[in-house]
Amino acid sequence: MTAPLTTLSPEEESALPPEVRRRRTFAIISHPDAGKTTLTEKLLLYGGAIQLAGDVRARGERRRATSDWMKIEQERGISVTASAMAFDYEGHMINLLDTPGHEDFSEDTYRTLTAVDSAVMVIDAAKGIEPQTLKLFEVCRLRDVPIITFVNKMDREARDPFEIIDEIQETLALDVTPASWPIGMGREFLGAYDILNKRVILMDRAGRHERQEGIQVSGLDDPKLADLIPPDKLATLKEQIEMAEGLLPPFDMTAYREGHLTPIYFGSALWSFGVKELLDGLVRFAPPPRPQPTATRAVNPGEDKVTGFVFKIQANMDPKHRDRVAFVRLASGHFRRGMKLLHVRAGKPIAVSSPMLFLAQDRATADEAWAGDIIGIPNHGTLRIGDTLTEGEQLQAVGIPSFAPEVMQVVRADDPLKAKHLQKALTQFAEEGAASVFKTEIGGTFVVGVVGMLQFDVLRERIRQEYDIPVRFEPAPYTAARWIDGEDPKHVEEFKARHKGNLAADHAGAPVFLARSSWDLTKVERDWPDIRLQKTRDHT
Ligand code: G4P
Repeated sequence: MTAPLTTLSPEEESALPPEVRRRRTFAIISHPDAGKTTLTEKLLLYGGAIQLAGDVRARGERRRATSDWMKIEQERGISVTASAMAFDYEGHMINLLDTPGHEDFSEDTYRTLTAVDSAVMVIDAAKGIEPQTLKLFEVCRLRDVPIITFVNKMDREARDPFEIIDEIQETLALDVTPASWPIGMGREFLGAYDILNKRVILMDRAGRHERQEGIQVSGLDDPKLADLIPPDKLATLKEQIEMAEGLLPPFDMTAYREGHLTPIYFGSALWSFGVKELLDGLVRFAPPPRPQPTATRAVNPGEDKVTGFVFKIQANMDPKHRDRVAFVRLASGHFRRGMKLLHVRAGKPIAVSSPMLFLAQDRATADEAWAGDIIGIPNHGTLRIGDTLTEGEQLQAVGIPSFAPEVMQVVRADDPLKAKHLQKALTQFAEEGAASVFKTEIGGTFVVGVVGMLQFDVLRERIRQEYDIPVRFEPAPYTAARWIDGEDPKHVEEFKARHKGNLAADHAGAPVFLARSSWDLTKVERDWPDIRLQKTRDHT
């Protein structure tokens, strides 16, 4: 039985150890180009983690230069790998988990969303909700992840704020409450009125990388406003806020925390505008570490004992050593370097002697970390996605998904003698979550499944670079893969025996049905009603 993911009550929250209570672990969800990278830079700027905006990209360039396969990333101009960044802001420890924007790598993003307690949804003010935003939002909703919305690019021609709000309410079935309200837009964009703090923030077009400070007023009737905002703009602002307050619900902490209501901010990441208000909102409203579900019980972040789960594996940090780093989200406890933790799946202890902490300033060795933090554990393949680490308890994290691939191809080594070696490479990628790998029951052919075509390019390049095996991908005669499951083991065996031609095993040995057409799939679903053919599978 799966314990439900719960939200802490205010009493439980105030009982958390102060180090846990001051943590905010979140990710940014957006469609490519909405401004996630720019906003990340500015969050780090406000967090004092970088001096000059632009560091995130510059650092990215350096990282790419050290790793050849990532040339693909560079050539295609997309960000494939996700990373974590920690920084201090006004007494809070902020953990920002970065997510790849390109939809071909969205699996990684979905799993990253299992490691956060809240999300910031960035929307391009001219484009509104775009397909990738919608998909990621749906993943957040599955886990009731609370969302703060940032409407970006207000310095350009934008849609009317009411239109944007309507779209969010209708498309996402999510209530919206204004936290700030824009004053003009495009060339006429002057700034915003911070509704929650009764402040006016005027945008300084001279300083893109400057922190923009607000001017305190007593409310919309403060005579000071007349000196700050031209009369026509002030009249429109008052009218719109009055209308918004009449039409939209007020801020409600419970509704936000349960994922039913989103506070909305308007700004321009490029001009560092609205970023401070967003960060202030995040530390004020976003939840500290939430309980994490496991197969048997929910783990409370305030528990003394350390619990963590692996949500991402990153290979190639040093290609020469075939090193991997397991990204572990700590779900509870106070972790200290050198601790011995139980690797539950293997039933063996591991000594975590050189964990990494992803500080935005520098990647440093972690001496200690708390629930909510992300630590990186270098290893040679022992740790896999979905693995749980504890101080001895038999716990198994749940809800870290593996998705049925959308596209499949057969992979063959140019040199047939390298088949065995190829299997090893493919298993590694499957364990990392970079692809699904199925070995057919008949013929032992390797079928590789991915979410987007671009992943084949990355895989081909990595197999050549890391394993020195030139390979080719060929069309596979399959259109869908489904994990096979059922209540009655005898029935499952019978199903498998009758479908040998469609049968394969994934990298962990779990049985999979490979359908040759959607007709094929519909037919078996109809003929075998008590066999479950599943699109996702928990990493266990
Ligand atoms: P992403 O990570 O979500 O894909 O978006 P990114 O931050 O890379 O931003 C995409 C483009 O939008 C960039 O322009 C960026 O400068 C621009 N942008 C981001 N925020 C704002 C904003 O608030 N206002 C305006 N006007 N533009 C914004 P680019 O031309 O593609 O790249 P670059 O040459 O400027 O780096």
